[in-house]
Amino acid sequence: MNKEIAIKVENLSKHFGKDENLVRVIENASFEINKGELIALIAPSGAGKTTLLMMIGCVEEPSAGNIWLGDKKVYENKWITKDTRRIRREKIGFIFQAHYLIPFLNVIDNVTLLPQSNGVSEEDAQAKAMELLEYFDIADKAKAMSSQLSGGQNQRVAIARALANNPEIILADEPTAALDGERSVSVIKMLKQIALEQNVAIIAVTHDERILPYCDKIMKIENKAIVFEESNKETLI
Ligand SMILES: Nc1ncnc2c1ncn2[C@@H]1O[C@H](COP(=O)(O)OP(=O)(O)OP(=O)(O)O)[C@@H](O)[C@H]1O
Ligand SMILES: [Mg+2]
Repeated sequence: MNKEIAIKVENLSKHFGKDENLVRVIENASFEINKGELIALIAPSGAGKTTLLMMIGCVEEPSAGNIWLGDKKVYENKWITKDTRRIRREKIGFIFQAHYLIPFLNVIDNVTLLPQSNGVSEEDAQAKAMELLEYFDIADKAKAMSSQLSGGQNQRVAIARALANNPEIILADEPTAALDGERSVSVIKMLKQIALEQNVAIIAVTHDERILPYCDKIMKIENKAIVFEESNKETLI
């Protein structure tokens, strides 16, 4: 089977500020990530992990380069479409370190919010949300408020929410940082399963070495460049 490219980046650069305040974060990065892959992104604090995710997610504008999401070119020295929000909504699911569920909505309403604002009917959005909540073993909390759930439960809901739109790409910025070791591994195993079963490309920023063996590749930012390492999966056996 041919590997399908989910993300392609060419000569991507990003700097902030100018003159004496110029900060170069990423320089001339080129790489491809295939559908079905779970990539761990590791680099020291301030190296540019969040900046890179936000450029791929069409949130932060690059300084130069090209970005394709699937077969659609979204950036060529400027955004190709003005409506980057629409690309985000259609193609990308975000998961953050803090779950950012809306506290005054119950679990299922948090999951159905985006699909419904994208024009999916309430009935279809609810059906899909229940399917996801069942998949993540949290359907019994569908009517509970986020504040009544544990950290791990909320993070499972946040992952369900990121998937509710059938994204091609999931960008996760330290999705396990608020969780203990065992729960971190279980969240990463879920992400791996999603990548495989739904043919989604996932980039997960992490500082947690324990979850690296579950990832397909490790992406690092070294001297403003992107480098890849194969994950050492033997350590799992
Ligand atoms: N809006 C901004 N304006 C100016 N500089 C910024 C801005 N956003 C990020 N930076 C700088 O870009 C660099 C990369 O920041 P980024 O948040 O991507 O790092 P990170 O790898 O995600 O770090 P952490 O592990 O601490 O989350 C840092 O030096 C930061 O100060
Ligand atoms: Mg960050």
